[in-house]
Amino acid sequence: MVQFTLPKGSKPKKGKTWEGPKAANGKKAKRTKEFRVYRYDPVEGGNPRIDTYEVDLNSCGPMVLDALIKIKNEIDPTLTFRRSCREGVCGSCAMNIAGGNTLACTKSITDVSGPVTVYPLPHMPVVKDLVPDMTHFYAQYASIGPYLQTKTPPPETEWKQSPEDRAKLDGLYECILCACCSTSCPSYWWNSDRYLGPAALLQSYRWLADSRDEMTGERLDNLEDPFRLYRCHTIMNCANTCPKGLNPAKAIGEIKQMMVKRSV
Ligand code: SF4
Ligand code: SF4
Ligand code: FES
Repeated sequence: MVQFTLPKGSKPKKGKTWEGPKAANGKKAKRTKEFRVYRYDPVEGGNPRIDTYEVDLNSCGPMVLDALIKIKNEIDPTLTFRRSCREGVCGSCAMNIAGGNTLACTKSITDVSGPVTVYPLPHMPVVKDLVPDMTHFYAQYASIGPYLQTKTPPPETEWKQSPEDRAKLDGLYECILCACCSTSCPSYWWNSDRYLGPAALLQSYRWLADSRDEMTGERLDNLEDPFRLYRCHTIMNCANTCPKGLNPAKAIGEIKQMMVKRSV
């Protein structure tokens, strides 16, 4: 049965406020921005809390990730988050900022009016602070066989593909597996144990659409299930939130069409 109240111990409490630098008149510096950040420490246990950090934007880079790095380096070294490329390429800094899932490294601070709320990706177990446990998400990705699979003997050089067939992968290969889409999908929130979610399904279609792959039938068999594919109800949150501008709902629609075509 669907549970509409937060589980015991999960409701965030008000945490600590870390005041920013003051101007000469004793008031807050003019370009101070408040960041309200979700904190959870599994060692301490207890409820999560929201800590408030006042950051001087005059000495901070332009993106939310810059502010988080500044907080960690200069204010509170216990703050924990993932990041690597800071270029929107690795997908590791995905989090919920100002109510939307996105990449901290490409989200401009000035895009947010008022305080910036920063939470981990929703509906994932939290390892610590802004770090979600991606184990299940990656296992689902692995389950779609995300690599070229062929039956004919390999060619002497490379598997060839025409420019037209290669173009069919545009809008698919760019996925960085950040999980912003899956964790914004209501169907995935409630059924992530069985529904693969938009990220894994977009990746699945990336291989179904690849002219070199020879396992189309087996790949479709793997998705023929009331939950794995068909729990998408075209709500479109996935396409609206994808920081790379991709459209997982469209890819899911293409897979459904392939299913219909092979059954007639
Ligand atoms: S489709 Fe977009 S939001 Fe989803 S995992 Fe890929 S890059 Fe992230
Ligand atoms: S379109 Fe499908 S995959 Fe995308 S958010 Fe809606 S239900 Fe989820
Ligand atoms: S740090 Fe790599 S996508 Fe943000």
